[in-house]
Amino acid sequence: MNLFEWTPAISVGINTIDDQHKKLISLINDVSDAMKARKAKEVIGDILQQLSDYTVYHFGNEERAFDKYQYPDRANHKIAHKSYVDKIGELIERNNKGELGISISVLDFLMDWITNHIMKTDMLYVPFFKDKEIG
Ligand SMILES: [Fe+2]
Repeated sequence: MNLFEWTPAISVGINTIDDQHKKLISLINDVSDAMKARKAKEVIGDILQQLSDYTVYHFGNEERAFDKYQYPDRANHKIAHKSYVDKIGELIERNNKGELGISISVLDFLMDWITNHIMKTDMLYVPFFKDKEIG
């Protein structure tokens, strides 16, 4: 069961970015499903790694466009991205040590962070990238 679905309310109006956000949300749901089904830590670790890799890929796409077009708020936005990637890295570590279990606070964190980030931080770049290429 999905704990969260992408909805048009969090669309940034840029198809490639919306598609990447959908994929991130779907991976977070996969982490959730695996935890709730009490899958082995190797299975959960594998999905967390996929989430980490895809997050790095997606943030990289945004950041390349920020640099290319000298997006004014790029420094703060990159700091936010790094904090999320670091947090996922911590979760991978904790999972490796067998300390993660079913952690509702972890799932809430992963989903709340990305939703807030899209709605507050990503939305800020939408007017700037209106006639430019991103993603
Ligand atoms: Fe972002």
